[in-house]
Amino acid sequence: MCGIVGYIGRRDAVPVLLEGLRSLEYRGYDSAGLAVIHRNRLQVIKTAGRVQDLRDRVGDRTKATIGIGHTRWATHGEPNETNAHPHTDTEGRIAVVHNGIIENAEQLRDALGAKGVKLVSDTDTEALAHMIAAEAAGDTPLEEAVRATLRHVEGTYGLVVLDTRHPGELVVARNGSPIVLGIGESEMFVASDVAALVRYTKQVVYLDDAEVATVHAADYRVVPLDGSGRRAAGDSKVPTTVEAEAGDYELGAYEDFMRKEIHEQPEALRRALRGRLDDRFATAKLGGINLDARELRSIRRVKFLGCGSAYYAGQMGAVLVEELARIPSDAEPASEFRYRNPVVDPDTLYVAVSQSGETLDTLMAVQELRRKGGQVIGAVNVVGSAIGRECGRGVFLHAGPEVAVASTKALTNMAASFAMLALLLGRVRDLSAASGQRIVAGLRALPGQIDQILAHEDLVAEVAGRFADAEHMFFIGRVRGWPVAREGAQKLKEVSYVHAEAYQAAELKHGPLALINSSMPSLVIVPADELLSKNISTIEQIRARGGPVIAVTSAELPPYLADAVIRVPAGEPELDPLLLNVPLQLLAYHVAAKLGRDIDKPRNLAKSVTVE
Ligand code: AGP
Repeated sequence: MCGIVGYIGRRDAVPVLLEGLRSLEYRGYDSAGLAVIHRNRLQVIKTAGRVQDLRDRVGDRTKATIGIGHTRWATHGEPNETNAHPHTDTEGRIAVVHNGIIENAEQLRDALGAKGVKLVSDTDTEALAHMIAAEAAGDTPLEEAVRATLRHVEGTYGLVVLDTRHPGELVVARNGSPIVLGIGESEMFVASDVAALVRYTKQVVYLDDAEVATVHAADYRVVPLDGSGRRAAGDSKVPTTVEAEAGDYELGAYEDFMRKEIHEQPEALRRALRGRLDDRFATAKLGGINLDARELRSIRRVKFLGCGSAYYAGQMGAVLVEELARIPSDAEPASEFRYRNPVVDPDTLYVAVSQSGETLDTLMAVQELRRKGGQVIGAVNVVGSAIGRECGRGVFLHAGPEVAVASTKALTNMAASFAMLALLLGRVRDLSAASGQRIVAGLRALPGQIDQILAHEDLVAEVAGRFADAEHMFFIGRVRGWPVAREGAQKLKEVSYVHAEAYQAAELKHGPLALINSSMPSLVIVPADELLSKNISTIEQIRARGGPVIAVTSAELPPYLADAVIRVPAGEPELDPLLLNVPLQLLAYHVAAKLGRDIDKPRNLAKSVTVE
């Protein structure tokens, strides 16, 4: 995913831009560049290499107090120096960095070509630089030129524009690709992710879609645009404070962020539970969802919507809601929901689940729901993100910044938040105080239990070493174990590239058993619950066909039942998925490490997909 940084103030802009780009490296990129205004001229430096190469190339020859920078993940044109951002107009007056995809780039480029403009790159972004330059003729304010240009643009963008004729301002715009302003003392920062600015300021302003901002060193002005790209009425935005610390984006003693974040889970979970468990009434306190007891009782169905791991976390939530509150509940990929013209039911509580809060499919699903009058709450990690703002109410996950592409601590906090939601819904219905108390105590015990699992990481690493050569793997689970199996398969695929498929245990015999043999290991989730004997018999069926089995369990299993057994502490059965999931994260991590994968930058780079 591309990264954007911008700076205006009193400091030397170049080190700020380079440091900002370095902190966005975790998102993956193939080229990097920056542009500054030095002695009223634009200086642009680019490389098809790493941020360190850019740093070497810049040296100390450039001094400026305003500039923009970019790390590019190629979409239009191959990753080379010419296609790297920033892009400029022919005169070298305007420079633009851009995230997202301009869908009508071909027409825009053709139209420029017809006017005699010579484009030098293959990118969609370069067209913007030429168009803004044409609109900014004479004394036209830069913001006006940007707005005029965007009226012709279809697609997604987060962009920052620099103009040598306006050396005291940056103009910024957003549509579908995140942009955040960092507010300092007589200095301002712009970034696509708070990671790039949190070391300088905690005061931030998130742009919404269809907003343009003009940023000076001492002030900023955000203006909403109407449907035709003209200024709409609205007040400039007030900054909010970000929770993140610069250290959250540093590896410290860890080799990679995925392992760091797996180990941060006990602390992250304590944060998510803090102040939300009510011993007196044996329930949960989730003030952010803004629903009183009467409204909670009137909910007839709960539907979780998210993508990838957030969807699997939603499945865990659906199981919890049905078990604890006895309300019908399910989960659906937001990417399906948004395209299938869903029937929106006013008595259903929709829960939009997202770590980043920026995943486009989930955001679109929320917008569709709101348009059709559905009641939707968010379960979002990044405060101030688009989905959080669009929902306006919900549960913040408090997992802290999740840098690795593979979601681990955010998923655990999603599931814990859904356990609290289920408890809350249950306690205004049939769930007894005694059962509520049991779940409250179970939730409180979880961080310590995860600590115990992590303390035995070497055992999981040993199992990973034994099975790392497998080309395929089955992940088997039923009921509570089913979303865990799906998430485990996803994690293995995502970071190790080993083909993994999840199956419901009872479905095996309807076909997939045919694939079981000595080179097809199965990882079976075995919670210590009323389905224990069923799961044991599933393992026996697999082994009868020569299939190796790894059992991940909170139960005491008969000796020699499986080829490898990974135990987690026994907790409250409803909460078992939160514990059973942790060894699967470790397993995926250690298989990937054994296979020498670039764990924090796997192939898919699907951290949060903000473009289509
Ligand atoms: C998780 O490991 C994946 N990287 C991916 O499936 C992710 O969960 C999904 O893209 C949704 O992201 P979000 O939670 O930020 O919306």
